[in-house]
Amino acid sequence: IDQYAVFGQPIKHSKSPRIHRLFAEQTGENIEYTAREVPADTFDEAVDQFFAAGGKGLNCTVPLKELAWRRAERLTERARLSKAVNTLAQQEDGSLLGDNTDGIGLVTDLTRNHGITLTDARVLILGAGGASRGIIGPILECKPSRLLIANRTVAKAEQLTEDFADIGKISACGFDHLPGQQFDLILNATSASLSNQLPPLPERLLAENGCCYDLAYANEATAFVRWGQLQNAGHSLDGLGMLVEQAAEAFYLWRGIRPETRPVIALLNAERH
Ligand code: ATR
Repeated sequence: IDQYAVFGQPIKHSKSPRIHRLFAEQTGENIEYTAREVPADTFDEAVDQFFAAGGKGLNCTVPLKELAWRRAERLTERARLSKAVNTLAQQEDGSLLGDNTDGIGLVTDLTRNHGITLTDARVLILGAGGASRGIIGPILECKPSRLLIANRTVAKAEQLTEDFADIGKISACGFDHLPGQQFDLILNATSASLSNQLPPLPERLLAENGCCYDLAYANEATAFVRWGQLQNAGHSLDGLGMLVEQAAEAFYLWRGIRPETRPVIALLNAERH
């Protein structure tokens, strides 16, 4: 039986084992998927051990995505640009391929599951850390009319615009430049929401019937999802759908089969209400 796992810290509340077991059941793939608490300082050892014992593929989550990016011997283009790897797959020659399925997972959830159009949309990303870096490439490939990265530390947002300038139109600013601007889609990629904090967001930042999407997810509505509801957003969503979609992309990379995501999202959603 082929072994897969997710490494991270903390890992106890990870939904990935559940999601991949549901995929395996649905597709008839005979795999085992476990979660393992791995701190950054023992990451390399843990990876060696896992693949030496016959492991086939790994997901890596906080705080290991950059380490996994360094560790991979080959990278997909989207992983190279995002400087983060959430999926490692063992190749036939034994080498490790690193991919990042977060961005495509987000885009799939927005467009396919919620009918939200990115093409020609005015898109704002809040935050300029690892989570932002993982989603910018796939968003730019949808050709929004503009993509603005707003961050507390402006220099970090500006660095992102340089790194992704070749892919599409992208600009950067601090939160103090947001008043007077308007967006069809606002994505929260700051780590603030889970601790119930929000960047300072002006009134009318969200266009009428616009969408809010928090990359984080929780059993209750996050601070940013609640903000979107207060702005009368057409949709105010958290990252549960993205989580399932990025998992489906990883499953596809490993097994060559695309699981159906909708029943899995529906099940996980039903469990948290
Ligand atoms: P991640 O991998 O989750 O993106 P990260 O790389 O540490 O984590 O980035 C966290 C992001 O959340 C950053 O954009 C950070 O802003 P700074 O670059 O200015 O540090 C942002 N962030 C965290 N707490 C915040 C807060 N209370 N208000 C606004 N932005 C916050």
